[in-house]
Amino acid sequence: MVEEVSGMKEAVRGLHVIDGAGVHLNRIIGSPRVDYIDPFVLLDEFKSDDPEDYIRGFPWHPHRGIETVTYMIDGKFEHQDSKGGGGLLTPGTVQWMTAGRGILHLEMPKMSEGILWGYQLWLTLPRKDKMVPPRYQHLSAEMMPEAKSGGAAVKVISGDYGGKTGPAKTWFPISYFDVRLDTGGVFAHNVAKGMQKFVYVHTGAIILDPEGEAKEIGAGNLVVLDDGESVIVKGSDVKNGFLFFAGAPLKEPIVRRGPFVMNTREEIRQASEDFENGRLF
Ligand code: FE2
Repeated sequence: MVEEVSGMKEAVRGLHVIDGAGVHLNRIIGSPRVDYIDPFVLLDEFKSDDPEDYIRGFPWHPHRGIETVTYMIDGKFEHQDSKGGGGLLTPGTVQWMTAGRGILHLEMPKMSEGILWGYQLWLTLPRKDKMVPPRYQHLSAEMMPEAKSGGAAVKVISGDYGGKTGPAKTWFPISYFDVRLDTGGVFAHNVAKGMQKFVYVHTGAIILDPEGEAKEIGAGNLVVLDDGESVIVKGSDVKNGFLFFAGAPLKEPIVRRGPFVMNTREEIRQASEDFENGRLF
């Protein structure tokens, strides 16, 4: 059987938003441009060397019904949650937090100058797992394997690539890679049909489907991929980098309000009421 090479469904740029106590963000998913890519409901990029953009951080706030995944590339962030979890996120660290039935946390920069660069992803939990107890995974840079071949260095946060398995425990299969490509370096990955998949180019430029349509995509673009199983990406510039995501869509209704993502309006109302009555601690 000949595998179909995946092409591009759409390329979209993020939207500048201010969230938390005044943090400037590039909202890649979770905006009027891209509402959500089931089961990925939000993706924010924070990247600035101006402390005014990040210093105010994200003071105490609740979550329910999702996982929040924070990946630091540069700079330091501190997390604390109402269950006594937390930790310092240094470059290369991932914090994979399952909010489940509810948790409060704060996310504050642990630096007053220099470059802060990282990503926060939200995954909606399946209906059956919305109210699981909160869980917290602190994945240090040393825990994350790197697969190197053909001019590609792939940091595997979750899922499998090149014989390496990411350390994150997930509720359903999710692939999350940070891929760095040399000039002409090649990332080639097979994804089962029916999975959602997309890339976000963060450095340089990439060439998607180099032997076919060869579309060049520059930094700052989210590219939603079509249903071909085989993803082939080639590096075009001197330094290239992108995040790669794949996951099985849950195909359940989603209702969201701020930090809560549930399946019905009633469940959202309940989440707000539980928060107001201190039941999310
Ligand atoms: Fe949060």
